[in-house]
Amino acid sequence: MPLWRLSGSARSVLDPELHRSLGYVRCIVTDCRAVLVPRFGGPEILEVSPNVKVPDLKPHEVLVRARAVSINPLDTHMRSGYGRSIFEPLLPLILGRDISGEVAAVGSSVRSLRVGQEVFGALHPTAVRGTYADYAILSEDELTTKPASVTHVEASAIPFAALTAWRALKSTARIASGQRVLVLGGGAVGLSAIQLAVASGCHVSTSCGSYSPGSQSLERVLAAGAEQAVDYTSENLELAIKGQFDAVLDTIGIPDTERIGINFLKRGGHYMTLQGEAASVADRYGLALGLPMATALLLKKQMQYRYSHGIEYWWTYMRADSEGLHEIQKLVEAGKLKIPVDKTFPITQVRQAHEAKDKKLIPGKVVLEVD
Ligand SMILES: NC(=O)c1ccc[n+]([C@@H]2O[C@H](COP(=O)([O-])OP(=O)(O)OC[C@H]3O[C@@H](n4cnc5c(N)ncnc54)[C@H](OP(=O)(O)O)[C@@H]3O)[C@@H](O)[C@H]2O)c1
Repeated sequence: MPLWRLSGSARSVLDPELHRSLGYVRCIVTDCRAVLVPRFGGPEILEVSPNVKVPDLKPHEVLVRARAVSINPLDTHMRSGYGRSIFEPLLPLILGRDISGEVAAVGSSVRSLRVGQEVFGALHPTAVRGTYADYAILSEDELTTKPASVTHVEASAIPFAALTAWRALKSTARIASGQRVLVLGGGAVGLSAIQLAVASGCHVSTSCGSYSPGSQSLERVLAAGAEQAVDYTSENLELAIKGQFDAVLDTIGIPDTERIGINFLKRGGHYMTLQGEAASVADRYGLALGLPMATALLLKKQMQYRYSHGIEYWWTYMRADSEGLHEIQKLVEAGKLKIPVDKTFPITQVRQAHEAKDKKLIPGKVVLEVD
């Protein structure tokens, strides 16, 4: 007897073999459609493959029937070879971090989710089997139930960006009510950070611009609750922004924004950049040499800024955080956290979608619909 109904272009075994004694559930879906990166390159290397193997679930894992997966900058960077020191030996990869869909099967120790529930969540940055697929596998703590008030498309735009902002502001800087937060850059992470900070009772200033044609980031950051928004394409940020801040989240992370961000901090404040150099240094020198070099570089900067400015300097990376994801879910449910989706493509048009992001034809979030 099949335990659940299949949809999409997946092949299955009809009688799922339960290997509970071995600690895992043999997955009902044996293979499915997925977008593969067989080698690094431009959008043209993406392959929609009809029969990619779906591995058996480990005890803590959940099989999700994808309905929508959003495109993050990490996806286009990974496709182009960013992180090759980690990913090259593991090719072909499946891209994608964010997902919204339905639970199709659960591992033997999963307690918080059940088959049929609508869920959303995100994989960690180094996952090799991503979410651009009919069926994706995430661990239980990378998922939570999707609020009924948002569609799969809307939900899929949120978790990776919001968890990155959560990691910076809540886990690292531990922002508290009444504090001042400066967010540099008005993309998905910037918008998430503004909304998380506002929900925590902070006062938020932000810089954003019309980096891409058609960008509405100024209107969007103000709608997200920023008290001050400076367009860096027409104003001098250093003159326009007033006062000092407890935390700066720099989503752009170029030398200029780093300098400005650090100079705006109070003593004891936290500067967090999303452009940590661990992966790029490892790509340049190999994992064995690159990772210790990157650690040494970070420690040097941390000591330098502690001595020169009395501030804490961090490279922020997205991490799975079950507690953070539940708080994000509550904010989404309350209508206090949203990321506008500018365009959707069917997953079969993934090359066109990546090309549009590469050429900056669409400034905001792009989501792939999976049906
Ligand atoms: N370390 C991590 O774990 C992690 C996690 C997520 C994202 N990231 C990185 O953080 C950055 C922001 O991510 P996101 O998801 O918010 O991206 P996004 O939604 O594509 O937004 C990026 C925004 O940055 C601004 N920008 C300004 N100068 C830019 C430049 N030279 N190049 C690109 N963008 C520029 C643009 O907004 P304005 O026009 O309003 O300035 C743009 O909309 C990306 O570089 C991404 O790779 C890192």
